[in-house]
Amino acid sequence: MDDIMSLCKRRGFIYQASEIYGGINGFWDYGPLGTMLKRNLREAWWQDVVMMPCWGRKGPDGEPVTNLPLDTCIIQNPKVWEASGHVAGFNDPMVDDKETKQRFRADHLFGLFVCISGDYAKDGLIRLVAFMTKVPPVRTVVASSSHEALELALADRKAMKPYKLGAVLDRITGGDESSTIIEVEDKDGAKGFGLFVPVYAGKWGTEYLRSNPQLIPSPFSGKSGSLTEPRAFNLMFKTFIGATAGADDIAYLRPETAQGIFVNFKNVVDTNRVKVPFGIAQTGKAFRNEVTPRNFTYRSREFEQMEIEFFCHESQAMDWYAFWRDWRMEWWKSIGLGGENIILREHAADELAHYSKATSDIEYRFPFTAPGFGELEGIAYRGNFDLTQHQKHSGAKLEYNDTTRGELAANGQPKGERYLPHVIEPSAGLDRGVLALLCEAYTKDASRASPEFMKFHPRIAPIKAAVFPLVNKDGMPEVAEKLHADLMKKFGRTGLIETDPKQSIGKRYARMDEAGCPFCFTIDGETLTNQTVTVRDRDTGGQERIALNTVVSFVSEKLGM
Ligand code: GAP
Repeated sequence: MDDIMSLCKRRGFIYQASEIYGGINGFWDYGPLGTMLKRNLREAWWQDVVMMPCWGRKGPDGEPVTNLPLDTCIIQNPKVWEASGHVAGFNDPMVDDKETKQRFRADHLFGLFVCISGDYAKDGLIRLVAFMTKVPPVRTVVASSSHEALELALADRKAMKPYKLGAVLDRITGGDESSTIIEVEDKDGAKGFGLFVPVYAGKWGTEYLRSNPQLIPSPFSGKSGSLTEPRAFNLMFKTFIGATAGADDIAYLRPETAQGIFVNFKNVVDTNRVKVPFGIAQTGKAFRNEVTPRNFTYRSREFEQMEIEFFCHESQAMDWYAFWRDWRMEWWKSIGLGGENIILREHAADELAHYSKATSDIEYRFPFTAPGFGELEGIAYRGNFDLTQHQKHSGAKLEYNDTTRGELAANGQPKGERYLPHVIEPSAGLDRGVLALLCEAYTKDASRASPEFMKFHPRIAPIKAAVFPLVNKDGMPEVAEKLHADLMKKFGRTGLIETDPKQSIGKRYARMDEAGCPFCFTIDGETLTNQTVTVRDRDTGGQERIALNTVVSFVSEKLGM
């Protein structure tokens, strides 16, 4: 991750916000390449969700999918957040180290620490040393068990994700050299080797800490007894409206874009010729005063979301849920997050919110979560919880009159049915998406002139193509300029088109590789005689010659436009 972060800084993808003042924790700015990458990702989502929903695919009702666009305010009436439950319940469990004054989230505390003792090779015993993060070596032996018993012990910890156990066992038995193996000592002083694997313990971690605050060593100092009990900390940023700045003037920066959609549901229905099932989509900033912002942009205090609230009749909700879950997964794959780094994880029944019948997460294996995964997007079946709450708190009638349903009247037509539609919510993080694309694209190859390069999918690559005159004379710059202008005309709206007459051609290619530009076209001596150019493929470094007048159609085909 350090390598990726330093490339991001060096090439202008992402900078620390307010860097010249020492930065500000949890806030990030995007440089020119990062801004283009983020814009391309947002634009790809917008095109495929709003302009041509689900690539023109039909929904489970056999009809084309409809999603309407919306753009709502960051600051809403504070009653919105009372109704949605954010004022009372959008809390994280915060724990302080009384001595070091450092702070962390109780539900992030726990990790799985497995000790492969010297005996392991002989009797297959694995010692489960402790559920602790950050203070290796941990010295308390909690259990010692066989594979099966370990599996059972972990299955019992409800919030733990079972696939992670698989990864743990794979790594132990596969003897993966890259594992974080450290020397540990058990309480009898016996030495062994330990494997530290971060496991998100969720609510279970918080409860464990609450009932055993004296037992858990501080992740910062390693000392027991210095941690406070977990306390609820509301994540919403507060501000004041107007000049008096009194208690009555408090407002909140939105912690999600979703509620702006719910409170406008009736407006959209009343002012558009739209029928349920349909969706409303918006992208925009959200703010959360995260207790421990970390892992680059993964957990930021200011970030952007891309959310859809899809409204349907309860009887069709599970079909729509499956449709959205599967299509969203396909979508992330279509822009380059393929392979084993992306998974779909269906939530277990005891992980679901009280109003949700099903939820799944699309998760990506970030370098800092590996071998585990981190959430990229959640697809939640939210019942009609949100509309019910807003109807109750606002007093406005939000029911939808569905004229296609209900008993048949004497004239053979349905009488209609009034209901609060059920909702499927595919909610994605734009900044997390960008981070996943950066991690996926980052490739090392010591044999190349650019030992690090970015294998972006052409659709989201910040620079789409580059045009280089081999030398800055003999008529080559003029041809390059003309080709550059032609490419700009056609693709300038989708990404940058670079041209650069200076430096050796190898250095120019290397710069483009680091920026993730998929195609470089070079004008050389042959171009002047036979009107062909070389096109260099970023991933293979291979070159071929194509006719100068086919360059635009070549790029067009590769970009699928
Ligand atoms: N309306 C539902 C909702 O907001 P969420 O799981 O809290 O659900 C949706 O957020 C997505 O927003 C997450 O999957 C993640 O990609 C992104 N996200 C949430 N908190 C974030 C943070 N602190 N920093 C960056 N992205 C975040």
